Amino acid sequence: MTLVAEAKGWSGERGGRILGYPVNMKALPAAFFAWRERLFAEGIGRFAHNNVGDPFGSVPVSFNTHDFERELILRFGRIYGFLPSDTWGFLSHSGTDSNLHGMYMGRTLLKARTGRAPKCYFTREAHYSIQILCDLLGLEAVWVGTLPDAGMDPQDLGRKLAQNPAHPALVVATIGTTFKGAIDPVDRIRQVLQGKESYLHLDAALFGGYLPHTSGAGEVCHRAPNGPPGRYDSIAVSCHKFFGFPSPAGLFITTRNNFKRFNERYRQIHNAEYIGHAPGTITCSRDAVKPAEFYFFSTPEALAVQAEDARTILRRTAWLLDRLERDFPMLRPRRVNDLSNIIFFRHPGRWIVEKYALATMHLEIGAGRREYAHVVVMPHVDREMLTGFLADLHRAVA
Ligand SMILES: Cc1ncc(COP(=O)(O)O)c(C=O)c1O
Repeated sequence: MTLVAEAKGWSGERGGRILGYPVNMKALPAAFFAWRERLFAEGIGRFAHNNVGDPFGSVPVSFNTHDFERELILRFGRIYGFLPSDTWGFLSHSGTDSNLHGMYMGRTLLKARTGRAPKCYFTREAHYSIQILCDLLGLEAVWVGTLPDAGMDPQDLGRKLAQNPAHPALVVATIGTTFKGAIDPVDRIRQVLQGKESYLHLDAALFGGYLPHTSGAGEVCHRAPNGPPGRYDSIAVSCHKFFGFPSPAGLFITTRNNFKRFNERYRQIHNAEYIGHAPGTITCSRDAVKPAEFYFFSTPEALAVQAEDARTILRRTAWLLDRLERDFPMLRPRRVNDLSNIIFFRHPGRWIVEKYALATMHLEIGAGRREYAHVVVMPHVDREMLTGFLADLHRAVA
């Protein structure tokens, strides 16, 4: 492992310098590896276990870790405000895989209700995978405009819905867009959707990990303050981003009720005889090791660490923004909302972008199109690293 890391140039030091992508490079605690070893001692990861099937269903064969998977979905479901009696989900392969399930479920339910395939509404700030998934699902994309904070413009959504009166609406709202860290305004989107056949899926790949521990918990909560559950239909969160789970995985959570209605349709196209039930997941075989390992991240001790990390990253993002605005106004640094751990600014030069693995993109801001870079303040990004980055930035723009 050390050899591979050195050969690829991502030894501890290099890993610790990643500032431009949503990966948490903080070392995992010894307790996680002890948990891994315990699972291994029990045979998990030593034999070809397989989580094929519905973790909440009764699977006739049992060489899986559905018990861990069910429990972690219930625990995270509670964190996102789902009623324990009305929670369904599973641990998917990634955030993209969870988005695929949300969009497939939305398409299936809307088609069942109306007889017509929905159109899919999202903004240009959404992750590029949403376009791929639209293509895969044969959905027509409808681009919705954005507000100055880069979140979805509900008025424009209203206009676009009015232009497509004959089709139900599958809306993908992003809570933490990939480059700018924008939050689509779910409650206003819901108001605009009133009276329209719709399904609202939340892509909270990165922010979904930390927002529950902040004043922005409501952004990913399934219930509005003092309101009933049902603020959205399903949510996707990546496990390898904020949580720092060491391989790609995703949470997919929806209601039991949505799942039941979805599965009635799904059963018609899925011959359930071979595995004894209709699983409701697109892929058949699923990893059994990851749910058992990710269960570790749902324990009270792990949640306390996540809460601390959540506060720390927002505090450090605010500090960094302050320094960038003070010392580098010419780079036009911007954080689009106070819940974001992302700051973007004008491209500061190739070597510093490479040194800190900053993601870059061309953006149309103001009059012209320019290249920008962004910083994502993840839990491994400490004050020392930011101070070093700022010193390098002085050299880069001198
Ligand atoms: C908003 C958003 N959605 C989805 C994804 C894709 O997630 P994953 O890499 O877990 O497939 C990303 C990745 O950066 C993202 O930022």
